Parts: sequence; structure tokens; C-alpha cells
Amino acid sequence: MRSVTFAIVGCGTIACKHVISMAACQEARLVAVCDLNAERMEQIAALWHEESGEEQKIAKVAEFRELLADPSIQVIVISTLSSLHAEFAKEALQANKHVVLEKPIALSLQDADDLIRIASERNLYVQVCHQLRYRPLMRKIKDLVLGGELGEIRMGVANLRLNRSISYYQSANWRGTWEHDGGMLLNQGIHIIDLLLWYLGKPQKVYGELSSVHSFKETEDMAAGIISFSNHAKGIIEANSITLPANLEQSLFLLGEKGTICLGGGSLGRIDRWYIEGCPNAAEEARLLMKDTNEHLYMYQAMVDAILGKQHAELIDASEGKRALELIFAIYLSASTANVQHFPLSEFSTSMMKMR
Ligand SMILES: NC(=O)c1ccc[n+]([C@@H]2O[C@H](COP(=O)([O-])OP(=O)(O)OC[C@H]3O[C@@H](n4cnc5c(N)ncnc54)[C@H](O)[C@@H]3O)[C@@H](O)[C@H]2O)c1
Repeated sequence: MRSVTFAIVGCGTIACKHVISMAACQEARLVAVCDLNAERMEQIAALWHEESGEEQKIAKVAEFRELLADPSIQVIVISTLSSLHAEFAKEALQANKHVVLEKPIALSLQDADDLIRIASERNLYVQVCHQLRYRPLMRKIKDLVLGGELGEIRMGVANLRLNRSISYYQSANWRGTWEHDGGMLLNQGIHIIDLLLWYLGKPQKVYGELSSVHSFKETEDMAAGIISFSNHAKGIIEANSITLPANLEQSLFLLGEKGTICLGGGSLGRIDRWYIEGCPNAAEEARLLMKDTNEHLYMYQAMVDAILGKQHAELIDASEGKRALELIFAIYLSASTANVQHFPLSEFSTSMMKMR
């Protein structure tokens, strides 16, 4: 029954979510875990047994490359600190493993392009963890955009008003560093920026500004971006991780020719406006959909379906994972050069920000 085999590398905070989703996915089976920290491997293995009811022993290895040599593993889930994502994903693909890859997919454009190329050359699946795209409400908005019910989208605004305390940055030494984390937009902002681009399309140019307030970290605390899209639509990003005294909200606003959608709340779980011309029941239908937040499970199910060749499963491949990444890189570059950046970008790595 559980026929698609997974291994997880990186058994930290987010790994729990992966295991719970995997266990809920009938065809997925965890066979190995990898971390430098033995206790975390034990915890993740125990969580798997508890959630899945499966008793079969889980292999525990400290060295990632041992997973690559194991022919019983089909998919490697990469949930380590961000600076290891691209390196581990490339190695996994080169060893003919499919990959579930945490965001951000890479910390440089070169690494993102390498990933796209290797996955395509080897005909392997990469599922990037922009799980919000699998939330039924977000999918509904995409269908409205594609179906033309909202008309042309004229403006999109993504707000992120969060609080990440000193203890958050001290909880792991990679957090808040350009070399290993990449900044608040890349870590916290990337999901909502991915949605903004999913709905609005290809950006043409962006102007960005950044500010750093706290000295206990290297990366930005505040960011602003103004985006122009090829169809003359405008996008605005306004984000900070120093909102007092705690997280306030994330919001996503879409202004269409024939409707307006605005989501708010802690995790975009509140409908502030859902208006579509000529559809008086649209908001009511959307409120019903809003209750379903099983996006992480649907993301796993899509990966399993793709591997089993069951049905047309829509994955978020590495080139999709590059979209928000490239926009954030362009904001960083714009802020550090005080110039508008045009797409596509030719070169960027977050470690360049250290020097600026
Ligand atoms: N998709 C989402 O919603 C979401 C949410 C949170 C975090 N994330 C992403 O997940 C990643 C991990 O975040 P986290 O909060 O779980 O971090 P974490 O620090 O809690 O966990 C990272 C784990 O990687 C392990 N690790 C480090 N080097 C390793 C190596 N060489 N080999 C094997 N294991 C190694 C660490 O020991 C640690 O257990 C980040 O890139 C983050 O951006 C995604």
C-alpha cells in the first residue's frame, strides 16, 4: 500500500510537518532520516511511527550521501538550513532521486538554474514547498484568474507584518545570515510573493528598498518593492519582521478589472473582500473553501501521484520555485545599487549582500 519511499534530510522544526503530511498520504512511506543531531532523528522517526501506525524500522544516518547510495529510497525531502538546499538537491537528482525541496530552492541564481537543468536532463520530479498553492482557496483564485472572472489583474499587494525576536534568530546559527538564510523576504516573505507572481504573471522590472534595524542579525528587517508587470499591472510588496509586540498579519490584495479579492489574518486565512461582478454567491462559496487548510498533504499527494503516474499531477517544479526567488533577488540588488532591476536577472547570490 505505502509504495513511494521517502527519506528526510534535516530533522528540525519543519520536518515535523513533512512527516505528518507524509503519514496522512496513503502511498507515502518514510524509510530513512538524516541529521547531524541524533536526538532530532529519533524524534522524527518516532513521530512517523506514531502518525502512520507503521512499525517498520527507519534508517538513521548522519551523512547525507549515505541516502544517495540507498536504492530503496525514491524521494529525498530536503529540509535543512537554506544554504544546503541546492547542493543537496543537485546531488540527490544526480543520484536519480526525486526531490521535495524546501523553499528557498537556492541562495544563488546559478544554483537555481543548475537545479532546473539537472531535473530536466534526468527527467526527475522536484516538488518545491510553496504549499499555499495547494490550499483550495488559493487554487480557486488561480482558477478565477485563468478563467477571466476577475478580468485583467491591475494590481497586487502583498503585506507581511511579522515579529521575529532575538530568540528566534538565536535558535539556530544560520538564521538571519546572508550566507545561510538569505533574509526575511526569502525566509518568511517568499510564500506570499510566490502567490503574488502566480496570480499576476511575469514581472518586467522592480525597484526595492531594504532597512536593517537590529544588529543581532545581518539581513533586512524591513523591505519594500514596487513591481511592473508586462501587462502594465503593478505589484507592491511591503514586509517587516519587527512588528510590535507580535505578528500582526499577512495580507494579499488583488485588484481585477471585474473583481477585488483581499485575504488577511495570520496565514491568509481570513477573507476581507471577495467580490466578483455578477456572482453574488462567490464570497459564500469562498468561505466554505477557506476551511480547508490541508495544503501540505495535497502537496505530498501531488508528488506521490506524479511518481505513480496516476493522474496529471501539477507540481511546483524548480523553474516555478525560481520565480519568487528571482524577484526577491532583484529587490535585494535594486536596494543595494539604488537602481531599478529588469528581468531576467543575470547574476545574484545572497552572499553578495555581505559585501555591500
Ligand atoms: N515551507 C514552509 O512553510 C517552511 C516553514 C519553515 C521552514 N521552512 C524551511 O525549511 C528549512 C528548515 O527550517 P527549520 O526551521 O526546520 O530549521 P531547523 O534549524 O529547525 O532545522 C534544520 C535541521 O537541519 C539539520 N542539518 C544541518 N546541517 C545538516 C547536514 N549537513 N546534514 C543533515 N542535517 C543537517 C540541523 O541539525 C537541523 O535539525 C529552511 O530552509 C526554511 O526556510 C519552510
